[in-house]
Amino acid sequence: SGQRDLVGKHLLISAGGTREFLDPVRFLGNPSTGKMGIALAQAALHRGATVTLVHGVLDTSIVALEGVQTLAVTSAAEMQQTLLKCFPNADWTIMAAAVADVKPASYSSEKLPKRSLPSSLPLAPVPDIVAELGALKQPHQKLIGFAAQTGDIVTPALEKLKQKKLDAIAANPIDQPNSGFGSDSNQAILLDHRGRKHVIAPCSKLHMAHQLLAFIHAI
Ligand code: C5P
Repeated sequence: SGQRDLVGKHLLISAGGTREFLDPVRFLGNPSTGKMGIALAQAALHRGATVTLVHGVLDTSIVALEGVQTLAVTSAAEMQQTLLKCFPNADWTIMAAAVADVKPASYSSEKLPKRSLPSSLPLAPVPDIVAELGALKQPHQKLIGFAAQTGDIVTPALEKLKQKKLDAIAANPIDQPNSGFGSDSNQAILLDHRGRKHVIAPCSKLHMAHQLLAFIHAI
């Protein structure tokens, strides 16, 4: 693929995990470090794109992202607000963030004493941000999601592609060595809405990012 094939394009990329707090010291979270989303921002920048990176909690450094507009959020609700604001200006949006599916049903602004913690935690759903973007998507916009899965990765990824009105999805195994959360390498099966399929063999997250961008270009 051409090195500067994204000149003139604005990419909106989400990265990292969200935290859904129960009280000021306890939250529901996930092991996302943000490495995949940051690799995508790096690769897009290298190919000449204008990049906005909306990131949740990171466990890696983002020093190599000069020129990228970077917006930090913590909760899924904050990520939703920020992405909804940025989305109209984006040509391509890639949701690499690991967003919560559920949150504690209530939040206490005072730390809950240990003795008053419930033995089971009532949960409330979190809005599906990428599905919301899928409903707002204009014809010139492309929307790409990730599906972090164990076991069969393709079937659930194809369901999500349809359900969330995505143009493509990266089915990403998280139960294989050297891939998924926190690893510097990754692997995936890329699927698009026309049935095209591309297997990304285990490689660095930066190399996977370039392969994903090339795949999106060809949709
Ligand atoms: O349904 P599932 O969470 O597996 O879907 C993963 C995809 O959906 C990812 O692209 C993720 O960023 C996005 N997602 C979202 N909002 C949520 C949950 C997931 O945008 N609340």
